[in-house]
Amino acid sequence: MSTKIAFIGFGGVGQALAELLVTRQIELNASHGLDAEIVAVSDVMKGAVYHPDGLNVTKLLDVVRETGSVEEYPDQPGLIKGWDSLKTIKESNADMIVEVTFTDVNTGEPAITHCRTAFENRKSVITTNKGPIALAYHELADLADKMGVYWGFEGTVMSGTPALRMPMETLAGNDITEIKGILNGTTNYILTEMEKGQSYEASLDKAKQLGYAEADPTSDVEGFDARYKAVILANYIMKAPLSSSDVTCKGITELTGDMVNEALQNNKKWRLLARITKQDGEVKASVQPELLDADDPLAGVAGATNAIMYECDLAGPIMLTGAGAGLTETGYSLLIDLIHYQKQVKLAKI
Ligand code: HSE
Repeated sequence: MSTKIAFIGFGGVGQALAELLVTRQIELNASHGLDAEIVAVSDVMKGAVYHPDGLNVTKLLDVVRETGSVEEYPDQPGLIKGWDSLKTIKESNADMIVEVTFTDVNTGEPAITHCRTAFENRKSVITTNKGPIALAYHELADLADKMGVYWGFEGTVMSGTPALRMPMETLAGNDITEIKGILNGTTNYILTEMEKGQSYEASLDKAKQLGYAEADPTSDVEGFDARYKAVILANYIMKAPLSSSDVTCKGITELTGDMVNEALQNNKKWRLLARITKQDGEVKASVQPELLDADDPLAGVAGATNAIMYECDLAGPIMLTGAGAGLTETGYSLLIDLIHYQKQVKLAKI
């Protein structure tokens, strides 16, 4: 049976997933039994289109790239245009909602409402929006559980690098006592450019041009983006109900070129580290610049690359490094969730 998908939001990440579903269709079906059919797209800027029997994805991508509007999709019997996000979630025949809207991370909206509405209507959700997990993890996870639906959010921390699923599944059975990592690409890029002699301002501008930075880069440089990711790790992996206000947070804005140079001369490097530590059952988290020995594996992580280290009681320290952003990488994170969902459907859990 096919998985019917509705995209809520259809920017670069959503389009990257749609593209993967077309280009990998045969392999995904052969290897994972994934037969995904896109039935709806609803985007606040690009319009909406729905057909219960499925849309031609190649045509959909061509239309949105050429015209900027999905409503230029050719008319055909049964095609409906103009449904808003909530109507699409509630009334389309999709069983999987891909929630990739432009969401305000401070309020988590509209993504939180989209997730809640989907679960209330017994629909599964995959999302790359941090807000719903950082701000409403327990409420939404309980609701999804109660309604017997799936909620995937692998891409919220380190995009397609499996920073959430790897510790939960592959490292299952360990007690993870500490997680620390470089979870923001923009700031790591700025710090490593400053190590090469570039100014803070020029490096930030370059990070913006390269598309690493958030729409408002304050979230990157003040550590807020890393703090949301620390909250997600604390809640999901450490099972600790931390909120952003529980995480001490300091960004990189006070680090000067002189401080970076002085560190290098002393064989050290500044890195913006998120650290989540469990001690005597209590979980604490912080985000702050830390001075690392140059031979520390995290000091060797350069540019926009992310890295995360899990301190496991049985397996020892395990480090994972890879992209933390990027359209294809983040689109791929949704594909991991989709494949995982498909496996659960196969086991008749959903
Ligand atoms: N602005 C973020 C970063 C993007 O620089 O890592 C991914 O959340």
